[in-house]
Amino acid sequence: MRKNIVAGNWKMNMTYQDGLALISEITNMVADEVTGSEVEIVVCPPFPLLHAIGKQLPQNDHFHLGAQNCHQKESGAYTGEVSAKMLQSVGVEYVILGHSERRQYFREDDELLSQKLKAALGAGLKPIFCVGESLETREADDTNEFIAKQLQNGLFHLSNEEFDQVVIAYEPIWAIGTGKTATSQQAQEVHAFIREQIARAYDAEAALNTTILYGGSANAQNAKELFSQPDVDGGLIGGASLKSRDFTEIIKSF
Ligand code: G3P
Repeated sequence: MRKNIVAGNWKMNMTYQDGLALISEITNMVADEVTGSEVEIVVCPPFPLLHAIGKQLPQNDHFHLGAQNCHQKESGAYTGEVSAKMLQSVGVEYVILGHSERRQYFREDDELLSQKLKAALGAGLKPIFCVGESLETREADDTNEFIAKQLQNGLFHLSNEEFDQVVIAYEPIWAIGTGKTATSQQAQEVHAFIREQIARAYDAEAALNTTILYGGSANAQNAKELFSQPDVDGGLIGGASLKSRDFTEIIKSF
């Protein structure tokens, strides 16, 4: 079901104490700003902080807990890994999958991601599935072809019911952590293209009902214009989610 979502991907940042301090600032700042709004706020801290941060989230429809990854198996001899079921057991509702940093540093390919999607959906989690092109691909004018392949190979094997649980995040790699945000026109073009691909793979209703977030140097200054685009339903925020004032301003940007 399509929603306005602002998700904060803390990545590998925050100690236990710093994370508790940050979430306390965010929840205090946001409290009065979201009354009457439909926005969903998803906080995605690193694994060790999940349970404690989850306990600090206000018990209302606005705040939700997310994880940044999960293993593709339910359990077993996978030292250092965390399963989707474990995440669900500590209150996690969303899980980021296919982030470009994991595709790059941990060689996560379409086959592995489809197994992770299955595990996440099987545990009742909502995947935030990331797609996005490199600067080289964009400059070669191959963005649409590249994104279409990521969607086809990573997502479109899901049933209608499974796909209905998925949130898509368009994160151009060249905009992540660089300060070089996509223009609202660039974001709108790719979001609209993603919606077209969904309509072709499933149907018009699925396309209309899918939440598509933008990620890549979104911040307090540019969020309003990005979120005003017809096919941009919110943001997957990295650096700016670690600053309570900026994150609050982004949440207010709808
Ligand atoms: O997952 C969100 C992240 O990749 C975007 O990072 O720092 O450019 O907002 P940032």
